Amino acid sequence: MTTPTNSPWVLAARAAKMNPSVIREILKVTEKPGIISFAGGLPSPKTFPVAEFEHACAKVLREQPQAALQYAASEGFGPLREQVAAMLPWNVDPAQVLITTGSQQGLDLVAKVLIDAGSKLLVESPTYLGAVMAFTPMEPNIVSVATDDDGVDIADLKSKASGARFLYVLPNFRNPTGRTMSEAPALPW
Ligand SMILES: Cc1ncc(COP(=O)(O)O)c(C=O)c1O
Repeated sequence: MTTPTNSPWVLAARAAKMNPSVIREILKVTEKPGIISFAGGLPSPKTFPVAEFEHACAKVLREQPQAALQYAASEGFGPLREQVAAMLPWNVDPAQVLITTGSQQGLDLVAKVLIDAGSKLLVESPTYLGAVMAFTPMEPNIVSVATDDDGVDIADLKSKASGARFLYVLPNFRNPTGRTMSEAPALPW
């Protein structure tokens, strides 16, 4: 992004790394009448639990209206963190759970704490566009790892893993391919 010529503002150098969101452009198209877009990964509106959501909102506003509308700890609402920890299949301390506004915010936070300019990151090829957009402003060196029907191509991963900060993988219903990683084969020892 460059500073628009009619703008009184001088943009930070970092803004040059912030490209227009491709996802936003995809979603704009879906708002045009008569368009059924398969590009944006929109869930079927028929699956939205509208009645349940209405019921939950009404209950919260009836029983704890002030608390519901007040600021709270930025880690998230304590009882919700406890429930999330209890739902997970591992032994998780609720103090380790952070509630975010969707997973895109989680990706943004991961990028901020794990990536320095020039850090090597590994991503599957192809990978989720929104993750690349979250990582890019931190100026990483993004390296693609080949994938097949089972997931990451292990030989390619081994050849590229050295010095990488992390590998970003989508274990199930991968975006954009829809594939799910196979179970790891039993180890020979
Ligand atoms: C793999 C993946 N991660 C994250 C997101 C964004 O999710 P959220 O709406 O929770 O921010 C999407 C949305 O399509 C996705 O496909």
